[in-house]
Amino acid sequence: MAEVASRRTMGAYVELGFFAPDIAEAAEPGQFVAFAVGGPTSANLLRRSIAIAGVGAGRVHVVVSAKGVGSTWLAGLELGAEVDVVGPLGRPFPLPPPGTPALLVGGGYGAAALVGLAARLRAGGHEVAAVTGAASADRLCSVPELGALAAPFVVTTDDGSAGRRGWVTQAVAELIRGAGVVYACGPMGMLRAVSDQAVAAGIPGYVAVEESMACGIGVCMTCVLPVVGADGRTRFARSCVEGPVFGGDRVRFADVGTLPADVVGADAMGLMAAPAAPPAAAPVAPPPPAAADPDHDDVTAYIGGAPPPPPPPPADRPGGTQVIRLEP
Ligand SMILES: Cc1cc2nc3c(=O)[nH]c(=O)nc-3n(C[C@H](O)[C@H](O)[C@H](O)COP(=O)(O)OP(=O)(O)OC[C@H]3O[C@@H](n4cnc5c(N)ncnc54)[C@H](O)[C@@H]3O)c2cc1C
Ligand code: FES
Repeated sequence: MAEVASRRTMGAYVELGFFAPDIAEAAEPGQFVAFAVGGPTSANLLRRSIAIAGVGAGRVHVVVSAKGVGSTWLAGLELGAEVDVVGPLGRPFPLPPPGTPALLVGGGYGAAALVGLAARLRAGGHEVAAVTGAASADRLCSVPELGALAAPFVVTTDDGSAGRRGWVTQAVAELIRGAGVVYACGPMGMLRAVSDQAVAAGIPGYVAVEESMACGIGVCMTCVLPVVGADGRTRFARSCVEGPVFGGDRVRFADVGTLPADVVGADAMGLMAAPAAPPAAAPVAPPPPAAADPDHDDVTAYIGGAPPPPPPPPADRPGGTQVIRLEP
């Protein structure tokens, strides 16, 4: 159990600080914690995963956006309240080689998870630029904290109520030329767009995804998403233990929430490819050699070198993600 040691409202969000020295000592930027919600007699069995926004003096800070039952309960916790929290969970952002300038991109409360990363990068001597955006001024997050650590630092809002009017991607297009690595945390659409920008710029891009999580510890498979391994094959990766940070070019964003027919293990799931699409005009290149342990391929592992080229589709991949479920 952890005691609420600080609480402040930040626009549409509530920032809570919990006294949890063990978690604070072990946490790395990009990791998250999972809270039991509703109190000891709660019927809400699923924990709520929340990104770690910062640590210090034995405390763990998180930023909560009250949406449904669990987050509203968390956001309503008062000073001195006790809450059941486990962590740190997940894999952190990998750090770049010395001297690599970094561009950090946050969307909504996703910006909070980048503050610790910015501090870590600055302490390591890296140049840090940042962009953070939201729909409106009240949904911006961690602006003073990121602004103190990053230069240049650009704020955007969709409605122009703070900073530049527009999307973060417009500012990313300007700043990515000076970056050697990009880190992003925010809504899935933003992560996909920023990943595409990193690929186009030829630099590594890392994204912290936010998939629905039921257990948070790798047991239930609720949080899976299709990720391409170094061998060019797609596997369902659990974002709670293999993520939440992935190489952005490895995530098949267009297929998240679907069962691609070419995912490893699709046949065991009773899936078969849709009728073959017309043959492509160009021959399909063979996938690169399999990694030593492809089932545990490091899906964030290209830091330190050039990002791999976009993986070719496996030869048996149908034209799209349509699947046919076989009736038992
Ligand atoms: C890595 C990570 C970091 C996050 N960071 C933050 C953060 O910093 N701030 C923040 O406000 N929110 C964050 N979230 C979102 C947060 O975990 C909750 O999903 C969100 O707050 C809504 O929860 P709720 O209790 O308000 O909604 P409710 O609707 O009451 O509950 C949603 C809960 O059900 C789970 N769920 C939804 N669909 C399914 C399904 N099909 N099967 C199983 N479980 C399901 C969700 O994961 C969630 O736990 C993060 C999520 C992840 C995965
Ligand atoms: S949330 Fe259960 S395996 Fe990831």
